[in-house]
Amino acid sequence: MRTRITELLGIEYPIICGGMLWLCKPELCAAVSNAGGLGNITAGNYESGEGLRQAIVRTRELTDKPFGVNITLLPSFRISPATYDDYFRVCCEEKVAAIEVSGAPATSYLDMVHAAGVKIFHKVGAVRHALNIEKLGYDGVFAAGLEEGGHPLDDDVTTMVLTPRIAESVKIPVVTAGGIADGRGVAAALALGAEGVMMATRFINTRECRVHENIWREIIKRQEQDTALICKSLNLQGRALKNALTEEILSIEAEGTAPERIFALITGQRVKAAWQNGDVEGAAFMIGQSVGLIHDIQSCQELLDGMVKDAEAILRRNLDRFQ
Ligand SMILES: Cc1cc2nc3c(=O)[nH]c(=O)nc-3n(C[C@H](O)[C@H](O)[C@H](O)COP(=O)(O)O)c2cc1C
Repeated sequence: MRTRITELLGIEYPIICGGMLWLCKPELCAAVSNAGGLGNITAGNYESGEGLRQAIVRTRELTDKPFGVNITLLPSFRISPATYDDYFRVCCEEKVAAIEVSGAPATSYLDMVHAAGVKIFHKVGAVRHALNIEKLGYDGVFAAGLEEGGHPLDDDVTTMVLTPRIAESVKIPVVTAGGIADGRGVAAALALGAEGVMMATRFINTRECRVHENIWREIIKRQEQDTALICKSLNLQGRALKNALTEEILSIEAEGTAPERIFALITGQRVKAAWQNGDVEGAAFMIGQSVGLIHDIQSCQELLDGMVKDAEAILRRNLDRFQ
């Protein structure tokens, strides 16, 4: 499969793993890249630029294929502005293939990133943000609809509408994110004007994603209606799996804003521990509506090969309808 995205990044399949705090580490990153997609290391997993550098070095021991780094520029109690500077500097020194930025635009880093030959993409939820990052000189845009796990923009526009709106508005390549988990999603994304897909939720149920088995079982059990938008009252909505903890957060929000009570329930350490101990009711797990499309656990290679094969079959079958 060839698109501007595969050409730009030097990858076989236009399938990109989106950043996942606590999950996108060297093993999963290398597995996605070895399978022909673009793997991801999420910088926020590491307390310092040097920690991130060690993860990049480790990933290079596991793959000689291109991979990217997610840098989430959102207000953080844990990550200082100086650490963000270090993340970008290390990505440039190590010449990773790509940086995925989310949150604020990486305006002050762009010259350094381009000079290093690193490709830079921004994840957006609105046409106006896509136009802005194109003007700033980004190499491409990730269009993330409301279905996505993580922090969809509170414009609340779905992938189905956002992708073609952004594709018709910018000249740089568009990758669609949010609600994609199989070959049908790849075929649909191409039809909507995207040149690739980004997934995160689907990658949790791969053998190379090191989470507790309870998480895998729960993801297989849950359906598309089993996520909720939490933390709207904090102006930072997140799509998370419905469970005892997200119910509690939503009821605190319904009572009126009590940010400190909510902050205590959504600490990074709580989520980090729960991915490992498998307490499926005890943390706000970022999970997208694509959870309804996940019925098994596969290796990254099986997943990506199957998705591309299915997408091709779908596109050919539909072409036949016109003959
Ligand atoms: C567990 C999890 C953690 C995530 N963490 C981040 C993050 O740290 N930074 C970020 O920009 N996006 C994050 N996201 C969003 C993904 O990168 C991606 O945009 C989104 O999940 C794609 O939609 P999908 O969930 O339908 O695959 C996360 C998503 C999940 C599922």
